[in-house]
Order: sequence, then structure tokens, then C-alpha cells
Amino acid sequence: MWTEGKVIQRIDWNDELFSLRIKAEIDPFVAGQFIKLSEMRDDKRIARAYSLVNPPNTDYLEILAIKVEDGLLSPNLHLLQVGDSIEVSTAAAGFMVLDEVPLAKHLWLIGTGTGIGPFFSMLETPEPWERFEKIVLVYGVRKAKDIAYQELIDKYLNEQADKFVFQAMVTREDCVGALRARIPAALEADQLEDAVGLSLNAQDSQVIMCGNPQMITDAQSILENKGLKKNLRRKPGQVTVERYW
Ligand SMILES: Cc1cc2nc3c(=O)[nH]c(=O)nc-3n(C[C@H](O)[C@H](O)[C@H](O)COP(=O)(O)OP(=O)(O)OC[C@H]3O[C@@H](n4cnc5c(N)ncnc54)[C@H](O)[C@@H]3O)c2cc1C
Ligand SMILES: NC(=O)c1ccc[n+]([C@@H]2O[C@H](COP(=O)([O-])OP(=O)(O)OC[C@H]3O[C@@H](n4cnc5c(N)ncnc54)[C@H](OP(=O)(O)O)[C@@H]3O)[C@@H](O)[C@H]2O)c1
Repeated sequence: MWTEGKVIQRIDWNDELFSLRIKAEIDPFVAGQFIKLSEMRDDKRIARAYSLVNPPNTDYLEILAIKVEDGLLSPNLHLLQVGDSIEVSTAAAGFMVLDEVPLAKHLWLIGTGTGIGPFFSMLETPEPWERFEKIVLVYGVRKAKDIAYQELIDKYLNEQADKFVFQAMVTREDCVGALRARIPAALEADQLEDAVGLSLNAQDSQVIMCGNPQMITDAQSILENKGLKKNLRRKPGQVTVERYW
């Protein structure tokens, strides 16, 4: 089912990367889930999934999106201004939620590009802070200008200083404090664990990965070599993923 949403705010992080805050009545959702946005074109519905950045119980929906060159829907989303309408699915969906993640000492949230968005929804709820001793947020981007929501990251660094660790991975330029490496390569070389000061192992760690599908496939096989297995309902493991394409 679809409902009309109204854009009430937009943030432009750079020329292609943007956030939309949308007012729409949808069913209750769980942090980590996604909605669909859509529009009709020539009697055909074009619908795409977008993770929610806002936590449950906020009176708006927020998405972080990138304008994909030659994409069908995202260039039109990028044109939306405050006051414009967009169709929103009334039900959110998805299993990349903390309820599906077994207990461990450390929670690693690993995202590339817009795949970081749903982690903020989770981090804005009390659950991860209550369940895990340490939370590591790893954010892979091409350039420093592609980092969104730095102020939320700073908030966790300040307010959860003993619990929260942030590691940016900026691949296409040098950036202070960031590792210049792709996530799978940094995992393979133990570079990420060294930088963060924590070991990634099946005993202590739960990992959630979101975003670029090839990053996830490559990182998953490296994590498997470290003994971390895919987390399935019928067979709990340590690695939960959501591929964006
Ligand atoms: C569960 C789920 C959640 C998603 N959440 C988000 C989200 O929060 N924000 C978001 O921007 N997108 C998200 N996506 C991707 C989104 O649904 C669309 O695929 C994307 O906006 C491109 O749509 P399009 O019609 O413009 O491009 P299409 O014509 O569908 O072209 C798709 C191509 O665009 C590229 N692409 C798609 N998504 C991305 C992306 N996010 N970053 C970089 N390249 C991409 C890939 O090369 C892909 O093959 C999600 C996808 C899934 C399956
Ligand atoms: N980001 C921009 O400046 C920009 C500009 C114009 C258009 N766009 C549009 O946005 C899309 C790209 O968005 P994005 O930059 O958010 O996402 P992305 O291409 O998925 O890149 C995000 C991060 O993931 C890394 N990565 C890419 N493929 C990987 C793999 N196979 N294994 C491990 N890491 C991998 C990238 O490293 P690498 O740098 O090594 O690839 C980068 O650090 C493009 O398709 C284009 O349409 C983006």
C-alpha cells in the first residue's frame, strides 16, 4: 500500500548525496528497516528501497540517498524540494535489525556510502548501547566530502566515549584520522582491527554490514576466514548483511 509523503526538509551533503525528511503516515517499524519510495511514470510504478535513518517513534521519516547517474528513480528524488510529494510504502520491511543479532561483547557496524544510514536509526535507540560493551562504526566512502551525519558521529564520540569507536575509510584521498583502504583489504590485513584496537572474532563480535554488495561479499569471505559465520535465524552466526543492489 502507498501513501502520500510530503518533503519537509532536505540536506545536501554534496552535489550527489542528500537526505530527505518526509512527513508520511506509515505502520510502526524497527530500526534498521527500509521503506519504498515510488512514483508513477507512464502508468508504470517505479519503486525503490530506502533505509530509514530516523529511529522509530519520530514524527517524520528520513532517508540518506545518492543520485545514481542514469538511475531511474534516484535522480528524481534528488530533484525533490520542501513541499513536494512522493509516494511512500505504508509498511517498512527488512531483517537487518538488532532483534535478529545475537548477544556479543562488541557490535561492529560496517557500511559503505548510503549504507551507513540505518545504523544511525539503530544508534538513536537505547538497545545497542544496553546490549553491547563496545560499538564500532566503520564508514567507507570515496572522499571526505561523502561523509554524512558527522554531527551524530561526534555526539556518540562525546556522549559514549567509553563505548563508541568510529573509523572512517576514505579510499580516494588522504584524510586525517581515516584509513585509506577498502574495507575487505583492511580486514584481511588486520589493519582495521589494529586501528580500532579491538579483535574481530567469533567469540566477542557481531558484525552488521550494509551497502555496496561487492564490498559485503568480499568482506564476508574474509570474516569467514576469521571464523565468523553468516547469521541465520535457524543457525545463528556473527555476520548480518543488507546489500543495496
Ligand atoms: C534493502 C535496500 C535498502 C536500500 N537503501 C538505500 C538507501 O538508504 N539509500 C540509497 O541511496 N539507496 C538505497 N538502496 C538502493 C535504492 O533502492 C536504489 O537502488 C537506488 O536509489 C538507485 O535507484 P535508481 O532507480 O536511481 O537506479 P537503478 O536504475 O535502479 O540503478 C541501480 C544501480 O545504481 C547503483 N546503486 C544503487 N543504489 C546505490 C547506492 N545506494 N549507492 C551507490 N550506488 C547505487 C548500482 O550500480 C545499481 O546497479 C537500497 C536498496 C535496498 C535493496
Ligand atoms: N561518491 C561520489 O563522489 C559520486 C559522484 C558522482 C556520482 N556518484 C554516484 O554514486 C554512486 C556511488 O556511490 P558511493 O560513492 O556512495 O558508493 P560506492 O561506489 O559503493 O563507494 C563507497 C565506498 O565503497 C568502496 N567500494 C566500492 N566498491 C567496493 C568493493 N568492491 N569492495 C570494497 N569496497 C568497495 C569505495 O571504494 P573505491 O573508492 O575504491 O571504489 C568507497 O570507499 C555511483 O554509482 C554514482 O552513480 C557518486
